[in-house]
Amino acid sequence: MLEENARELLKKYGQEHILASYNHLDEAGKEKLTNQIMSIDFQKVKELYEQTKVRPTTGEDKIEPMKYKSAASLSAVEKEKLVELGERVIKENQYAVVMVAGGQGTRLGHNGPKGTFDIGLASHKSLFELFCDQLKKARDTYGVVIPWYIMTSRENNDDTVRFFEEHDYFGYREGVKFFFKQGEFPMVDTEGKLVIGEDYLVKEAADGHGGIFEAMVNNGVLRDMQERGIQWIFTCAVDNPLAHLADPLLVGYAISEQVRVASVSIVKNSPEERVGVFCRRNGRPSVIEYTEISEDMAKAVDENGEFLYGEAHIMMNLFNINVINEIAKEKLPYHSAFKKCNYLSESGEMVVAEKPNAYKFETFIFDAFVRLEDMGILRYQREECFAPVKNAEGSDSPETARKLYEAYYNL
Ligand code: UD1
Repeated sequence: MLEENARELLKKYGQEHILASYNHLDEAGKEKLTNQIMSIDFQKVKELYEQTKVRPTTGEDKIEPMKYKSAASLSAVEKEKLVELGERVIKENQYAVVMVAGGQGTRLGHNGPKGTFDIGLASHKSLFELFCDQLKKARDTYGVVIPWYIMTSRENNDDTVRFFEEHDYFGYREGVKFFFKQGEFPMVDTEGKLVIGEDYLVKEAADGHGGIFEAMVNNGVLRDMQERGIQWIFTCAVDNPLAHLADPLLVGYAISEQVRVASVSIVKNSPEERVGVFCRRNGRPSVIEYTEISEDMAKAVDENGEFLYGEAHIMMNLFNINVINEIAKEKLPYHSAFKKCNYLSESGEMVVAEKPNAYKFETFIFDAFVRLEDMGILRYQREECFAPVKNAEGSDSPETARKLYEAYYNL
């Protein structure tokens, strides 16, 4: 018998369809489902489902453009000074990299973790190997092994670890410190009912890269970094092979500005480009995601004809270690995404979704910025740091990324 309190919870929140699953399970499965039910925040699920009925906007928030520093505007002397400051941090083993690689790469159509993807270079190196190359180069330049931590998800963790094992960590075994899994959150259908998966359990999906802070604390990453004396943590996404994993200029810039977080920006190339943009929200630093910006705001220009909200956030963020615990204390807000999701029908048949049918809830790393008094933004040229691999074809595809990568490295 399902425990009475679990049964009551299901009844209270109109999720009794889950009971049908319970009877199909063996003892171990029954225990798993009961534990799952007891761990779900049903009130949160209900609230988030209600939110899906409203188009996300910036609401009543006061939005203003955000100041940035253009790296191109720095004189050679200024630049050298900042680079020297940053290099000192790297050489003194106070710098680490955390890569978010828990996503599914659905748009790319690649079967496997995105980091295992080959963008078609003559070398046929995967994204992970290209990042390893960068870190090995930094090892030669600075004489230190930069610790690298990779955030995966339940769905792709084992494949990711196996890939590294099979390739002997591309010669960077000493640097790859941890693979750690991000959190998950249940998915709901268009009626707000929890989706049941093949295993008769509630279907949960990776809950966005905003879970990085909590996951770093819960999985001992932060502790490991503290023990090593790390001061600065660079985070970036696995889908941009031009992201510079060891950039002393960014570190030096953060130190000289006396900020605890600094990000790289590039100029958004059109109002429609699918990138988040920096802004000030009620006076605090923030990012408006491309799914949430209004058309007017996306098109607005200043007196020089530049986009008012044109500083694109490209997932290259530097955090001082001191802010991680602070941010991890409180959950970041969830955003919803409407996705295709195969499910088990009430009659017990697996249904393959042909079109989006369920909501996934995710938190975003950049929602942490609004908790800071201030942060620094360093604008780079697009061609020196951004070659995203998002779609199978067209813009931000393997082909565009390969060309950008070859041009930057003169291949
Ligand atoms: C993302 C940013 C956007 C930015 C753009 C630049 C979000 C929500 N938005 O958009 O502001 O301008 O990149 O290219 O990220 N990931 C996880 N766990 C998850 C989900 C994603 O680790 O649960 C990782 C993915 O593996 C990927 C990265 O996060 O490395 C970006 O995720 P994706 O969903 O592809 O973001 P975009 O919509 O492209």
